[in-house]
Amino acid sequence: ELSPIDKAKFAAARRAVDYVEDGMKVGLGTGSTAAWMVRCLGEMVREDGLRITGVPTSSRTADLARQVGIEVIGLDEAKWLDLTIDGADEFDGQLNLIKGGGGALLQEKIVATASDQMIVIADAAKEVAALGAFPLPVEVVPFGWQTTRALIEEMLISMEVLGRQTTLRLNGTQPFVTDEGNYIVDLHLNRIANPRQLSLVLNQIPGVVENGLFIDICDRVIIGGADGKVEIRD
Ligand code: A5P
Repeated sequence: ELSPIDKAKFAAARRAVDYVEDGMKVGLGTGSTAAWMVRCLGEMVREDGLRITGVPTSSRTADLARQVGIEVIGLDEAKWLDLTIDGADEFDGQLNLIKGGGGALLQEKIVATASDQMIVIADAAKEVAALGAFPLPVEVVPFGWQTTRALIEEMLISMEVLGRQTTLRLNGTQPFVTDEGNYIVDLHLNRIANPRQLSLVLNQIPGVVENGLFIDICDRVIIGGADGKVEIRD
């Protein structure tokens, strides 16, 4: 028996796979909600003969996709994708997102941007009036990361951002390392007044590889409920 939150995630995932058509190249997101979507797609491949190729956004998702029978290729082989389905940590009324809670934001952003369409699947708790209660993940190269973090903090002060606390993401006592071999600094901002501007300014800082703000990338959000119903925003 699924917990209410898993029922909600499953409901959103189940609905999202209705958008997948035979022959499509599909970006496969990362996280617990996206994992439900990958399992649903696997079932459609095995039982309904759906033919798709999947481009995973993390090593974790690649493993799961192969396990459930989805053919996996790299982004450069696929070149362009029809659709990416992924989870999110927060979404707002403009369908802008915070992603990267699972640490896969870089591949997720590259894959989603290379797709004709991005659909986000989420439970209702992820909807916010303004992004930023969820700490914003910023992927930084390990070289000089403390200097990069200091530059980020200076920038937050000059932009008069409300919360300015930053933390290096850890895996036990060691820095968490992304699939690309980088670190993640989480920014505790509370409320992001201008996500578009913040995203641009962050990516100007040397040492910053990418940030978890997805602006104008998501086309549709499918919100799952614990009762199995879904609500669609687009
Ligand atoms: C992974 O890096 C994130 O962007 C995920 O999409 C996000 O953390 C959502 O995960 P859940 O579906 O597990 O909440």
